Amino acid sequence: MSNAPQQPGQITPDPSIPLPPLHLRMGGRHFKQDADFVAAGVRDAKLLRQRAGLGRRKRVLDWGCGAGRLAVGIKHLIGNVADYHGVDIQPELLNWAKDHLSDEHTRFTLVDAHNARYNPDGTPSFEIPADDASVDVLYAYSVFSHMLTHDLAGYGATIARILAPDGHAWITAFVEEDVPDCVENPPDYLKLEWSGALHCVRYDRRFLEATLWEAGLAVDEFVYGKETDGQSMYVLRKR
Ligand SMILES: C[S@@+](CC[C@H](N)C(=O)[O-])C[C@H]1O[C@@H](n2cnc3c(N)ncnc32)[C@H](O)[C@@H]1O
Repeated sequence: MSNAPQQPGQITPDPSIPLPPLHLRMGGRHFKQDADFVAAGVRDAKLLRQRAGLGRRKRVLDWGCGAGRLAVGIKHLIGNVADYHGVDIQPELLNWAKDHLSDEHTRFTLVDAHNARYNPDGTPSFEIPADDASVDVLYAYSVFSHMLTHDLAGYGATIARILAPDGHAWITAFVEEDVPDCVENPPDYLKLEWSGALHCVRYDRRFLEATLWEAGLAVDEFVYGKETDGQSMYVLRKR
């Protein structure tokens, strides 16, 4: 990743909230300074509050949570929500988060799902461990940006199933207009060099939105190109 989203203002990290060591921070080179890591989590928690209804009574599913950047942001911004549930497939990151950030409102679950980039030996699955209609706010930052169409459709259906009737999903993805439906590591895209499995998966906007629609999700909001490395942001709801 080379272009991190801009962080408004400086944040002083609360020393009582543990922060993951640098090597466990996804997008680590943007986050050499603790303040930058915390600011990125707080920024997203604020956006979730403004656009996806995040609040202290809400049930949050942080899908692809890494070492808990959003959990750190929520702890700094509002203390806690009713239930924060972080899910990831990388044991080292997830276990750090579980050991250091868990509390009565904050939990983490490791799943062994296959992803060619992050867990190549995992089992093919579209599992997100949550009951039907049990999630008020689903956050997936830079997760579909490392997934091909099969996973987009399969996990899209899972998200539609676990969202509460008035819940929202806030996701990011690489999206452009009038490009091939799905390309892994598009050459010269965004002036960055993409290499290795699923480093950058770019979607055609119409294709991505149609696939999510088929999966049971409608687009509430789309903001082009302002997230990490030029990803776009979607707010989705059950259709
Ligand atoms: C680029 S990182 C983003 C981490 C975090 N969302 C953040 O913004 O700091 C993508 C994350 O998605 C996780 N991931 C990929 N496939 C997954 C899956 N099928 N289920 C859960 N997590 C997954 C990876 O392990 C990785 O931690």
